[in-house]
Amino acid sequence: MKVSFIGLGTMGYPMAGHVSKAGHSVVVYNRSTQKAQNWCKEYQGAFSSTPALAAQDADIVLTCVGNDDDLRAVYLGPDGAFQHAKTGTLFIDHTTASAEVAKELHQAAQERGFGFMDAPVSGGQAGAVNGVLTVMIGGTISDLERAQPVLDCYAKATSLMGPVGNGQIAKMVNQILIGGVLSGLSEGIRFAQTAGLDIPTLVDTLKHGAAGSWQLENRGETMAKNEFDFGFAIEWMHKDLGLCLAQAEKMGIKIPLTQAVDQDYQALIAEGRGRQDTSVLVKALDKKA
Ligand SMILES: NC(=O)c1ccc[n+]([C@@H]2O[C@H](COP(=O)([O-])OP(=O)(O)OC[C@H]3O[C@@H](n4cnc5c(N)ncnc54)[C@H](OP(=O)(O)O)[C@@H]3O)[C@@H](O)[C@H]2O)c1
Repeated sequence: MKVSFIGLGTMGYPMAGHVSKAGHSVVVYNRSTQKAQNWCKEYQGAFSSTPALAAQDADIVLTCVGNDDDLRAVYLGPDGAFQHAKTGTLFIDHTTASAEVAKELHQAAQERGFGFMDAPVSGGQAGAVNGVLTVMIGGTISDLERAQPVLDCYAKATSLMGPVGNGQIAKMVNQILIGGVLSGLSEGIRFAQTAGLDIPTLVDTLKHGAAGSWQLENRGETMAKNEFDFGFAIEWMHKDLGLCLAQAEKMGIKIPLTQAVDQDYQALIAEGRGRQDTSVLVKALDKKA
């Protein structure tokens, strides 16, 4: 298939690489051209100077940029991906963004004779590099079937969550769950350290029981060692929790734990920790001591 990939960041760069390695014909676009040039040296494919040019001959266009405003720019801007695409082109967005912007882009796509699915991902940089992402999709079964061979290049699980927008809602649930787990893990690790338990032994024991989690196994020990310069940056998590809080308000429900976690992240960002991993939440306990 002719596939375009727009946004070669931490996630997009390796994802586009997997599509190329699987034998699809790939054209990439990145706002800063150097990354697109580097990508073309590493993988088979070409780069275009605008999203519009990247998308004009594609069967499927994949996007992975930062937030709602970035999406509006790369899709609807004067050089945006919707400008010259062929009728029937399927657009798939992997950005973590609002359900509203997904619906807005879907509407604009339909008016132009294109398909659109929101398809945020979970699994982080390692998941993208190793091609084992989880993809939560809002769209139709027929569009998903059409996209499956491309999504399979970098995903180990792809699930249809309902109509357009529901992929983003599912990703919000993912982030709410991560915030809650990290909040409990922070208190648990701090409690264990203060009581003098051996953390590696504790993690190795608890991971087999009902309190086991990805966060416990992968972040329990590093949290205890104050190692945070890796992983998923809290700047991104704050953006994601903001989406959750806005959606909760729209639905008329309260998510107080998520709100408290987000306030802690805001305070940590103000301390200059914005690029540190989400497990740095444990440091928020210092201020509450
Ligand atoms: N990193 C993770 O672990 C992770 C995990 C799951 C989901 N996500 C989500 O995936 C998305 C991308 O994350 P990332 O870590 O790949 O981010 P990133 O490394 O900061 O890359 C963002 C990409 O978007 C491009 N971009 C941003 N604004 C743009 C605009 N207005 N016009 C054109 N291009 C624009 C950037 O171009 P430049 O290179 O020119 O800046 C870059 O290619 C985010 O929504 C994030 O929340 C990330």
